[in-house]
Amino acid sequence: MLRPIVLPDYKTLSQRAAELVVAELRAKPTSLLCLASGSTPTRTYELLALEGAKEPTLFEHCSIIKLDDWGGLSPGDRATCDSQLRTTLVSPLGLTERYVAFESNPLDPNAECARIEAWLDQNGPIDISVLGLGINGHLGFTEPAENLQPFAHVAELSQASLAHAMLAKSDVRPTYGLTLGMADLIQSRCILLLVSGSTKRDPLQRLLGGRLSTEFPASMLQVHPNVLLICDAAAYPESVST
Ligand code: GLP
Repeated sequence: MLRPIVLPDYKTLSQRAAELVVAELRAKPTSLLCLASGSTPTRTYELLALEGAKEPTLFEHCSIIKLDDWGGLSPGDRATCDSQLRTTLVSPLGLTERYVAFESNPLDPNAECARIEAWLDQNGPIDISVLGLGINGHLGFTEPAENLQPFAHVAELSQASLAHAMLAKSDVRPTYGLTLGMADLIQSRCILLLVSGSTKRDPLQRLLGGRLSTEFPASMLQVHPNVLLICDAAAYPESVST
């Protein structure tokens, strides 16, 4: 059963998450990090960038793989997960050479997923995944469905994903998602799931309810032996029922 660490607010959640990533990096400097985008981990990444400025050797040997992206947005579109991650973390830390990401508007999206999966096959498994919880229980763009895809794949985006605030930064509407799959994530040595804000209270309640369902992909994390679920008080449901 997932037992959340409940912290007072977004600020302390972000500080704790950054400390945990730093501790993992100290334990294994060559770690491969898989990073989600979205609003939840933003402050954590900013804090990591500040740590890197103070102690550049900390990030000297790690690599980053991006969890997912909006398909059909031009590279460089401010709404892409790629732009967000580059701005907050990859560029400040000077990690461009050790950063691997789905191209957001590839000629052949399936071939792009095969490229990323082949890279992961060669360089994985992931050491630390930093994930956010979708409002409908999605992880990356592994959306609720009867069957889940294990590896990198082209995803049909749910209405919940298409309503994500990130897309307000773009005039273009994505036509699909590009994402790592559930097996890629479950093979991570350690998973950090960050949940913040009152809009996440219902999905967190469902997650803590303890049922495994492909219709709520985050519930699959319950089969993983090393998940740290950190939420803030605003996201923590008052009553947790099954
Ligand atoms: C988006 C992203 C995910 C992210 C999730 C939650 O769909 N593709 O990588 O984890 O939404 O985002 P937020 O933290 O903004 O709620």
